[in-house]
Amino acid sequence: MQVLHDMPTSDDPHVIVSFDMVDDAGVYELDDGTMLVQTVDFFTPIVDDPYTFGRVAAVNALSDVYAMGGVPKTALNIVCFPVKTLDLAILGAILRGGAEVLARAGVALLGGHTIEDAEPKYGLSVTGIVEAEEMVTSAGVRPGDKLVLTKPLGSGVITTAMRTDQAPEGAGERVIAMMLELNRSASEAMCAVGVDACTDITGFGLLGHAHEMALVSGVGLRFFMNAIPLISGARECAEQGSVPGGSEANRLYVMPYLKIGEGISEIDVVLLADAQTSGGLLIAVPPEREQDLLDELRARDVHAAVTIGEVVEGRVGEMELVA
Ligand code: CO
Ligand code: CO
Ligand code: CO
Repeated sequence: MQVLHDMPTSDDPHVIVSFDMVDDAGVYELDDGTMLVQTVDFFTPIVDDPYTFGRVAAVNALSDVYAMGGVPKTALNIVCFPVKTLDLAILGAILRGGAEVLARAGVALLGGHTIEDAEPKYGLSVTGIVEAEEMVTSAGVRPGDKLVLTKPLGSGVITTAMRTDQAPEGAGERVIAMMLELNRSASEAMCAVGVDACTDITGFGLLGHAHEMALVSGVGLRFFMNAIPLISGARECAEQGSVPGGSEANRLYVMPYLKIGEGISEIDVVLLADAQTSGGLLIAVPPEREQDLLDELRARDVHAAVTIGEVVEGRVGEMELVA
């Protein structure tokens, strides 16, 4: 985020990864060598059902730890809620949803904090552990690497269409299933194989997060549009104009860095820039280990496990889209 560029950075030698890099989680090394991974994420409801919202928010909050190859251990609830005007049973359902996901992920909920606010917001602060030799950051992408994505895109356009009841039949169920999948199995697969870099795909969309990864690694990227998995119904939502403001901002931000090839439509770019909630991992893997990674992901039933692009030497941060 732009305002962070002016923040003073810590000179504590225990700080291994912090906000001066592009990763969303920070890493701190304790005296005994244990590496703590810490992250926080919370947002306003993206679906109507409070229990589902709680679950999605928790899966999303754990994601940054998994993206670094870490294992989440403890969490704290962060809650904003209009306690005087909204039924507290709604808050109860949100918190039960979060707790269900933490139990599924083997994470201990230690507490939390609630403040009164006009609009509900929920998320968690999460602490995990990462093995030094398994730690993966956004940096370290190398020319020749293959780019593998683990979940289909389209949650921004579909959840926007759902708000006005314009989502195609079944798209709502599919997007919720996608958002509820933990990135744990994908993280285990990537640690088993050994990869060069990883980021999770969330608010900046595929192109926004990929651009950051390319910049910090000093490389260019090429994406194969036809290989990129989309949640069925996402294209229809984008075509009918159900595009959230965040996705449009992402598209405008990445436009100067795009090299748009033959056969790539405006809607394609909208979909690749779509702001995701609880999206998958984008993993840069050396070509000789690409098949191992795909095999490990598929063996763990990861939602989508596909090679969607490759790393090139071109202009730093540039992203070429080919059909
Ligand atoms: Co995050
Ligand atoms: Co992230
Ligand atoms: Co308190």
